[in-house]
Amino acid sequence: MNDNLNIPELDIDPYSEENLLDPYPMHERMREAGPVVRLTPYGDLLACARHAETHAVFNDHVRFISSAGVGLTNFNLEAPFRPKSLILEVDPPLHTQNRAVLSRILSPKVVMQIRAAFTAEAEALVDRCLEKSVAHDQIDGIEDLAQPYPLKVFPDAVGLGDDGRENLLIYGDMIFNSMGPRNELLAKSTARVGEVTQWIMVHCQRDQLRPGGFGDQIYQAADAGEIDPQHAPLLVRSFLSAGVDTTINGIGNALYSLAHHPDQYAMLHADHSLARPAFEEALRWESTVQTFFRTAAGDCEIAGLPVRDNTKVLCMLASANRDPRKWAEPTRFDIQRRPSGHMALGSGIHGCVGQAVARLEGEVVLTALAKRVKRIEVAGVHTRRLNNTLRALDTLPLRLIPV
Ligand code: HEM
Repeated sequence: MNDNLNIPELDIDPYSEENLLDPYPMHERMREAGPVVRLTPYGDLLACARHAETHAVFNDHVRFISSAGVGLTNFNLEAPFRPKSLILEVDPPLHTQNRAVLSRILSPKVVMQIRAAFTAEAEALVDRCLEKSVAHDQIDGIEDLAQPYPLKVFPDAVGLGDDGRENLLIYGDMIFNSMGPRNELLAKSTARVGEVTQWIMVHCQRDQLRPGGFGDQIYQAADAGEIDPQHAPLLVRSFLSAGVDTTINGIGNALYSLAHHPDQYAMLHADHSLARPAFEEALRWESTVQTFFRTAAGDCEIAGLPVRDNTKVLCMLASANRDPRKWAEPTRFDIQRRPSGHMALGSGIHGCVGQAVARLEGEVVLTALAKRVKRIEVAGVHTRRLNNTLRALDTLPLRLIPV
């Protein structure tokens, strides 16, 4: 391999507080430096910030594997801190087998069946938010809307009981922090790791799951011999780790985007059928999952530049989603854009298996708002919840003006 080809080196730490708070200037520097860059604060770490290369790496699961972890830690060199995910952190053929079962459980057809219940819940919650906004002059878009909605509908669909669901939030925050470096954010979020992990593992057992729910269906697939019965609890765990914090922040970021673009909200209010494309554009514009990694399985190249065996590659999904090489006016939030090809839900064999559920949640919440709320006003300064992987809000003061 010709190592003389130059990969630009950048002294950028994607996990500094400054870059987590406002990643967009960093994205631009990385994209403009080259198709692949080396981030010197992390030694050999490479990163792709443009759409073409991020997409290419995600779609080459043979050369860029997930089984060495999709975070910064290289599982070939260091043991993962928890048993590996049997879907996200495995390669074919095990991935193919497990993925087939999860894809069927979360298929678009199944999602049609849960649509009515998810819609009713969204409408009831938006009604409560509207009442509160009128009575108290504002709501918190996160605490009152973005958080309670997924925390109700998704665990209900998985078949979890009502008690202790706040553990899902603590667990999600920890898992997504664990994909970055061992910084203060990770240390803080792992403060209760033992107790919360214990709760999660207990609630992945069959006797804790309502018969017929998504979780129980994983056990049914094991009964039918489609997956290893010992894998069932960890596959339920995948739903619980990946299915709550992601949608909370997806909805939170969509509310933020719409509140800061009153012209776009007015368009949605006038035409409710824009709810789905509006959610999609919010995923592109303010991507919930900012980054995931791959690891090179053998010496290879990205855009003609050499990549050594076992090198970690940071794929900047959020940056790809604002790459001017791919998108016209990428910084403009435009709910009529139809941003097909965005990377917010991944791409390739590991592309989000829960995407039909995520899109349903986003669509029904935005539809319920569009029908009942004439205007969404920013009612104060929002605060961010910093996380090594997620773009998340802690608070989002909003005023909902009824129709
Ligand atoms: C807005 C919400 C969501 C976002 C932004 C999101 C984002 C993503 C992304 C970027 C990936 C690709 C990971 C990779 O390639 O390494 C992924 C995979 C995955 N997602 Fe989601 N997700 C969301 C909602 C959900 C929901 C509701 C579930 C429900 C169970 C879910 C379950 C999963 C699982 C299990 C995987 C691993 C798939 C595989 O490795 O084959 N996600 N998600």
